Amino acid sequence: MSHSSSASQASPSPEPAPRCPVGGQAEVDPNLDFAGTTPYEDYVQAELLTHAQHLLSDDPGEMAFLVTTQVMELWFTVIVHEWHTACDALRGDDVPTAIDALRRSTYELEALNAAWKPLARLTPAQFNAYRGALGDGSGFQSAMYRRLEFLLGEKSASMLVPHRGAPREYAELAKALHEPSLWDEVLRLLDRRGYAVPVSVLQRDPTLKYEPNPAVEAAWAEVYAGDPRSELVALGEVLTDVAELVWRWRNDHLVATRRAMGAKMGTGGSSGVAWLEKRARKNVFPELWTARSHV
Ligand code: HEM
Repeated sequence: MSHSSSASQASPSPEPAPRCPVGGQAEVDPNLDFAGTTPYEDYVQAELLTHAQHLLSDDPGEMAFLVTTQVMELWFTVIVHEWHTACDALRGDDVPTAIDALRRSTYELEALNAAWKPLARLTPAQFNAYRGALGDGSGFQSAMYRRLEFLLGEKSASMLVPHRGAPREYAELAKALHEPSLWDEVLRLLDRRGYAVPVSVLQRDPTLKYEPNPAVEAAWAEVYAGDPRSELVALGEVLTDVAELVWRWRNDHLVATRRAMGAKMGTGGSSGVAWLEKRARKNVFPELWTARSHV
């Protein structure tokens, strides 16, 4: 989409200067006249996005904290969308479409992780300048991040509790809790392709956290021992990229937190860094990692 704010100025000379310096194509200015809001605004909702910064302190650094958080919320939204596309495609045995969506999500995860830059080196004094104003607000209460974790198989009914007061978020999270995760869909595909995935895994209660299974590890070891150019190896590799990038987000968050607040309690009421360390140790798609020892 192209857009410009340059207004056309009346030429001072009666003879307008020739306006095609190269290529022989006339240079034409963009439209300026719209009956209502611009089509750009209608599509992008830029006014909404750029006026959603309700600061809670006078500290000049708070804007970067708030906008970084908002930008990350938007990336979570895109990534959840991609993983839904991948789930639908896997259910329909359309592995190339699933791989395309997962590949896009890896680029988005890289952009998400790059968004740590403005916050990665906060000192405790800089963070303290607006931390008090955040009250008991915490990223822990992000409904979109929770959907992202649910899609990875990190299910937990108790994570719905903070959202009881927000009907739309609650309904979306409850739906995500009951739906199979991305990993569940991958394992169902492996089963349909003839790999020995246990019935207990295929018919597991999708509302519970996924627990690694030795038979699933053996199935992935078999996939990787086979044709290196197979569709399933390509799927395994892009899922490994996703897993690594999620792990990197968790670790970048952990390090930024350690730098900004040491071992203080989190605004969300947790033990802070100690709690985040435990979360960051979790492996995404665990058998994709452990299977490598057996190939
Ligand atoms: C340097 C700035 C930041 C600090 C010091 C920080 C600190 C923390 C702490 C201590 C927790 C644990 C829960 C609690 O007690 O609050 C937490 C959780 C969380 N934060 Fe941050 N955070 C920062 C920036 C961000 C940003 C920009 C986001 C983007 C949305 C974010 C998203 C999250 C999420 C999703 C969780 C929950 C993680 C989980 O459930 O495993 N944080 N944060």
